[in-house]
Amino acid sequence: MSSLRRRYATATAHLQAPFAIVDLTALRDNAADLVRRAGGTPIRVASKSVRCRALLREVLAFPGFSGIMAYTLPEALWLATDPESADIATDILVAYPTVDTDAIARLAATPEAAAKITLMVDSVHHLDLITAAAPDPAAPIRVCLDIDTSWQPLGRAVRIGAYRSPIRTPQQAVALARAIVRRPQLHLDGIMAYEAQIAGVGDAPPGRPLYGAVLRWVQQQSRRELAHRRAAIVNAVQDITELRFVNGGGTGSLHTTSRDPAVTEVAAGSGLYQPRLFDHYRSVNRRPAALFALPVVRRPAPGVATVLGGGYLASGTPDPSRLPQPYLPAGLRFSATEGAGEVQTPLLGAAADTLAVGDLVWMRHAKAGELCEHFTHLHLVEGNRVTATVPTYRGEGKAFL
Ligand SMILES: Cc1ncc(COP(=O)(O)O)c(C=O)c1O
Repeated sequence: MSSLRRRYATATAHLQAPFAIVDLTALRDNAADLVRRAGGTPIRVASKSVRCRALLREVLAFPGFSGIMAYTLPEALWLATDPESADIATDILVAYPTVDTDAIARLAATPEAAAKITLMVDSVHHLDLITAAAPDPAAPIRVCLDIDTSWQPLGRAVRIGAYRSPIRTPQQAVALARAIVRRPQLHLDGIMAYEAQIAGVGDAPPGRPLYGAVLRWVQQQSRRELAHRRAAIVNAVQDITELRFVNGGGTGSLHTTSRDPAVTEVAAGSGLYQPRLFDHYRSVNRRPAALFALPVVRRPAPGVATVLGGGYLASGTPDPSRLPQPYLPAGLRFSATEGAGEVQTPLLGAAADTLAVGDLVWMRHAKAGELCEHFTHLHLVEGNRVTATVPTYRGEGKAFL
């Protein structure tokens, strides 16, 4: 048995599977690596990739991390106002536009939350929704302008990047910025330009060296184009009003985004848990910190061990990269006809014959925070002990997305 597997088995011998763990030593190591790659630029922790308040607290205590990037306004309101997190949730950027008019009304009616939360906007529709909640001009709602970062080398014919904001040029950004500053109920707080095609696409795809080389070239061109455009947008908007922050980047791009002089802060979350989709980046630390353990419940045939559950697929394009990874013991794979099952998952390979009914198989999720939607608690492992058991968002009765 590998020493890692033995250590996790010893630490969790008292637990009934399925359960999820976070190796705190690995998480801290990953956090230190993110801080090193950010090179002094503060990192806003992406809560969608953590989904556990105790671990958000752990990360925010780390020098180099500052502020939370939330994924919904109800989440941000909860973090900002609940006594369990109000002290750490003092600066929350909601990174995606909201059309939740109830939540906007609650924000407008809660000055202590409005002083901590910034909403994302990319159109006048968003401004209208927010101002309809009649915020008090004495305590305006803070908003952030989202910028399209896609690389479009041939005009509209080719688009490399995610479909996010329609705001792409300095002129468009200035027009929306003017519309914001004209409304006294709103305050233009910052700009966000998240380059998903660089930060979220592994630049070292396994077994595809040629594709990897092309990908890295494309990412480099996109980075250059964005550096010019982001700087032009920031300068143009700053002529209208002073900005508190310019946010960019993600786990996969901290080392390059942080070097862009127009950027004042970067965001990251996935690199803390180090899920499977982040294995194929040249620059990212490869120390898995979040795992889940499934029990072997039967042995249908030689070379096959069936575990309970396992079908925790990740969001995104429906392809095998979204499957979890059978991690320990090494050498297990999914059946081509069954994949990761709803209630049981046969795992194939020579390693299956080393497993008995009741043994554990350790798995990794393809993405980071989505793991927490399947478990109410995370058991925090240090050395060969569980030193704490903490609730996930789901364990606190919260399912924001
Ligand atoms: C706006 C924004 N910033 C940053 C990130 C990076 O997050 P992570 O480091 O978890 O990949 C994301 C991920 O989707 C994002 O949507």
